[in-house]
Amino acid sequence: MPTLDINKKRLTRVTCSQHITPYLRQEVAALGFEIQDEDFAGVHIGATLDDCMRLNLHLRTALHVMWLLKRFRCPSPKALYTHVASFAWEELIPNDSFFTVTSTVDNPKITNSMYPNLVLKDAIVDRIQKHTGARPDSGSDRSKIVIHLYWKDDRAWIYLNTNGRRLANRGYRKMPHAAPMQETLAAAVLLAAGYDGTTPLVNPMCGSGTLAIEAALIATGRAPGLLRTQYSFMHTKLHDENAWRTIRNEARKQGRSQLPPPIVASDIDPHALVAARKNALTAGVEQLIEFVECDFAETPLPDQPGIVILNPEYGERLGEMESLEPTYARLGDFFKQSCPGWKGYVFTGNRELSKRIGLRASRRIPFMNAKIECRLLEYELYQGSLER
Ligand SMILES: C[S@@+](CC[C@H](N)C(=O)[O-])C[C@H]1O[C@@H](n2cnc3c(N)ncnc32)[C@H](O)[C@@H]1O
Repeated sequence: MPTLDINKKRLTRVTCSQHITPYLRQEVAALGFEIQDEDFAGVHIGATLDDCMRLNLHLRTALHVMWLLKRFRCPSPKALYTHVASFAWEELIPNDSFFTVTSTVDNPKITNSMYPNLVLKDAIVDRIQKHTGARPDSGSDRSKIVIHLYWKDDRAWIYLNTNGRRLANRGYRKMPHAAPMQETLAAAVLLAAGYDGTTPLVNPMCGSGTLAIEAALIATGRAPGLLRTQYSFMHTKLHDENAWRTIRNEARKQGRSQLPPPIVASDIDPHALVAARKNALTAGVEQLIEFVECDFAETPLPDQPGIVILNPEYGERLGEMESLEPTYARLGDFFKQSCPGWKGYVFTGNRELSKRIGLRASRRIPFMNAKIECRLLEYELYQGSLER
């Protein structure tokens, strides 16, 4: 009798970057899951392994889908070893497979952050060797099975990280260009701007095209996970290839077939446009995006108003900031002169530069880009009511 019933709902932690939980919560709820708990880095739900496959395919803003295998009191590394070694890893990890362990440890007694990983890995390998005679390989490569430990004070949770590498790695960004936005962040920014694919979207300063590509995926209802070929769950003994094929086919059928309203992406740098086009082609949405090489202020706007969204550079060094000031001032002029009736958004990590836009933001939505506090600034660009 196997210990792990894949059809039983197990506590599942879906993680995201800081400030993204509100958008992740909406996405998870829209897929029919009841949110049991949430914090700054994700939500908790009950999910079967099939549910985890669905979550991996559909979620645009999640980083990881962690399926709880075991939780226990863990006052010491010895307790960690004993509890982990009592779990039936031989039912999860094939002898000839490869796994890696990751951890988040918040325990004042543990000063060497690598030590829990070592204990976890040894306990898993020793258990499998005792029951099968074979020792599976392990290392730092996250392309196969990933087991995650969360250890806080004297409590520990062991998860199967069902995706492995972050879900932000959709697989379409072959050419990153300069300072690209993480794909999951771009999706969250679009959702925060209220983009649902029913109005035009214009993205001057598109760089490698992440915002425009994520917009095209939203507008066509395409599950972002369909672009990816590797997930951790596929390498486990629990994997049911037929169920996975059915779930993927269902996701394909859910996509919208009609053409979405225009999506325009422009950049002044021809290399950025080469990257953006190539990435869009890989994502299968190149035909839905009009690419234009121009200064942001010359970007052609469709007749029907919609959302215009820019992610300008925001410079970390003083010299860079000074040289960016005129660009931010011109952004305000562009919004005022060319975009009445549109909703304007600027994503920036520089508060001082954002003041140069010279317009009053109706919302300032917080985000983190890597370690930088950023804001998505929203401007209601009504005709004739723009204040400086
Ligand atoms: C921070 S990057 C955008 C990154 C993008 N969000 C991504 O995910 O790849 C800023 C982009 O603005 C472009 N840019 C800078 N000045 C510009 C201008 N005056 N007009 C148009 N594009 C400009 C740069 O070439 C660069 O690609």
